[in-house]
Amino acid sequence: MSPTASNLPDLSVRVAGVRFANPVIAASGTFGYGTEYSRVIDVALLGGVCSKGLTLEPRAGNAGPRLVETPSGLMNSIGLENPGIPHFVAHELMTMLSLGPTVIANLSGSTVESYAEGAALLDATDVPVIELNISCPNVKAGGMAWGLDPRAAAAVTSAVRGRTKKPLIVKLSPNAPSVVEVAKAAVASGADALSLVNTFQAFAVDVERGKPVFENVTAGLAGPAIRPLALRLLRDVALGVPECDPSRDPELGGTGTFVPLVGLGGIATWRDAAEFIMTGATAVQVGTSTFADPRAMTRIIGGLADFMARKGYSRISDLRGIAVFQ
Ligand SMILES: Cc1cc2nc3c(=O)[nH]c(=O)nc-3n(C[C@H](O)[C@H](O)[C@H](O)COP(=O)(O)O)c2cc1C
Repeated sequence: MSPTASNLPDLSVRVAGVRFANPVIAASGTFGYGTEYSRVIDVALLGGVCSKGLTLEPRAGNAGPRLVETPSGLMNSIGLENPGIPHFVAHELMTMLSLGPTVIANLSGSTVESYAEGAALLDATDVPVIELNISCPNVKAGGMAWGLDPRAAAAVTSAVRGRTKKPLIVKLSPNAPSVVEVAKAAVASGADALSLVNTFQAFAVDVERGKPVFENVTAGLAGPAIRPLALRLLRDVALGVPECDPSRDPELGGTGTFVPLVGLGGIATWRDAAEFIMTGATAVQVGTSTFADPRAMTRIIGGLADFMARKGYSRISDLRGIAVFQ
């Protein structure tokens, strides 16, 4: 049964104090700057669009193979190819803002200084939200990602927080020994929301050459293959970080600091999105599935609306966290 005007559910959500028309956001690195898909889908229907990971300086990205398919998944080794923040601000941002969905700038870096400088440049623009990608290699720590260690995550989050007043989503790596500890460090250092997960570190061998497939040796695994793992980490963070408890949402009369969660990892259908929301996510992001079906996100939005109408849920918070919090 399709929803009628009288029982139309409200799909809008607030993340880090910013309104999104619906909870479906294009994930960083999989949707360009939003314009590339506008000939295929009505991009204005999306809740949000994340930019490709942006660094202070332009980056050429990694040499060699960049994408390899796996059963139900995709390994990538793009290496943060991007034109640099000044170019993004001068040439891409205005068009991105005109598309309609809430725009999120995904900020990457290699040193604390480069993250902080990038944040300052974005702070001077109209971009409404920054997503801090702490999965990038920490140059000073020999390439280990910022997001693997709570102290490193705290250092980069505090530095960025110090240079911008924009709402800040910190994007967590699933490769940390304790994602919950990194999440707590990010919250204590000024994150307004958390998104999880980025890609899982993975490895593939070219058996003809007897060598790793990727020049960078390891690569990030994404797509439906990681979904149950991502969902389990979302549950861990929802239960393990007190600020992420949905009952703290001020819109529901909650008190204390509330840090909403944005869930991602292999979401392909409205059912998957509902699973993440029922595990505690306020919004979801969709990455790899857009490559397989460019209409995946618009289908998810329609499917969620139908599901909510069928079940009598009038807003996203009616189903948020119900599978985890009783
Ligand atoms: C080709 C590709 C490029 C990506 N680039 C970025 C990036 O620049 N910044 C970032 O934070 N995440 C990046 N990601 C990670 C995705 O945003 C997302 O966290 C991950 O793919 C899991 O979601 P999915 O399974 O829906 O793809 C990239 C993923 C892919 C597949």
